Amino acid sequence: MQTSGIDKHTILNPVIKGITVFAEYIADGALVIDDQTGLVVDYGSSASIMAEYGRTQQGQQPVQIHDHKHKLILPGFIDTHVHYPQIDMIAAFGEQLLDWLNNYTFVTEANFGDRKVADDTAKFFLQQLLANGTTSAMVFATSHPESVEAFFTQSTQLNMRMITGNVLMDQNAPEHLCVPTEQGIRDSQNIIDKWHGRGRQHVAITPRFAITSSPKQLKMTGELYASYNDVYLQTHLAENLAEVAFVRELYPNHKGYLDVYADMGLLGRYTTLAHGIYLDTSEYEVLRDTGTQIAHCPTSNLFLGSGLFDLSKTLSYTGVSIATDVGAGTSLSMLTTLSEAYKVQQLQSNPLSAHQGLYQITLGNAQSLLLEQKIGNFMPNKEADFVVIDLGATALLERRMTQTSSLEEKLFVLMMLGDDRVIEQTVIAGVSRYKNRTRV
Ligand code: GUN
Ligand code: ZN
Repeated sequence: MQTSGIDKHTILNPVIKGITVFAEYIADGALVIDDQTGLVVDYGSSASIMAEYGRTQQGQQPVQIHDHKHKLILPGFIDTHVHYPQIDMIAAFGEQLLDWLNNYTFVTEANFGDRKVADDTAKFFLQQLLANGTTSAMVFATSHPESVEAFFTQSTQLNMRMITGNVLMDQNAPEHLCVPTEQGIRDSQNIIDKWHGRGRQHVAITPRFAITSSPKQLKMTGELYASYNDVYLQTHLAENLAEVAFVRELYPNHKGYLDVYADMGLLGRYTTLAHGIYLDTSEYEVLRDTGTQIAHCPTSNLFLGSGLFDLSKTLSYTGVSIATDVGAGTSLSMLTTLSEAYKVQQLQSNPLSAHQGLYQITLGNAQSLLLEQKIGNFMPNKEADFVVIDLGATALLERRMTQTSSLEEKLFVLMMLGDDRVIEQTVIAGVSRYKNRTRV
């Protein structure tokens, strides 16, 4: 990029209220990575970094220099809510949430008891994440333990920091996808025992939503969650009006949708609830009081016609992350997702700046997942997950960039027009795992 010097841009932290953070841009920068550990050693201007680290010291491993001149290096993107099996039914026509689940989603998810299908799809999905510059994600598998086993096996091979778990469902779904109440919980327990904290893998206890788990299962889910202090919990909340009405029918004695989760012990700082479009003030207060996080999924909300997420209101109560929610979401690109988030907020007169957006899909999402000590920026000792971006990847981008004069403008054009085509290379813990084959 052509702007010069070091630019520090103030951003309101989307997750930790009252804290102001800086986005730092170094025009001619360099990043030092330890090949042995895959951790960041240092970053700074290339002149100072080359002076300090540029030459191999006696008795040390040879220094390798990778030149990405005129490219933009950003921390790897983090997707806080996505369904890997649904990559096979992304872009399914015509339905809103409940019919979309019945007519498309459950049909596809039924295949994931077959370990080969699960392995192939997990592998393809992770390659797609890399091609989109996404280096970490919180992911839904299916109700089959095999689907989780396949996913963690593949993500371990790529050494990607990933969070997933078996989907708990024991009612209101096709029989072959429902797992008996206690069996589902036992499967989750076994998965935690085997995978949680192994390498870069984490487990999320994953009840699909209030409709597809019985009260007994939700209660057992809450008990399992309470027995750990760093296992995640992920589910869906108040995405669609028919869904909210169905939950009210199932739980007439609860104050509302969120109260069901609160009553069952599902809320807390390690909990991420996708959507949260239809909430009342007392529900926002419960989110705030429990530290429960919301994942905003703009392409999904538009695709399923679910509704418009109120970002500024939600942020005034709790932390918000941004996510693709594929296969209801229509793109695995976090840049495309930001572009749609911008439009959803424009409809509410709340324009999202490029600095805020890019902060969100890196350190902001890491903070929402309590992973900011490990990933999200280039502070020394963080894991070296990053993307090399070509701001001139398409003829249109190249032409439009010549008409920009500030960093903010360039980044905004990237946020609006960028997608997988701008991702030139994706690096996981210091190891290059993806190179865009359309370029040399
Ligand atoms: N609610 C319950 N399950 C799902 C799902 O798979 N996708 C979305 N978008 N919402 C859900
Ligand atoms: Zn979802």
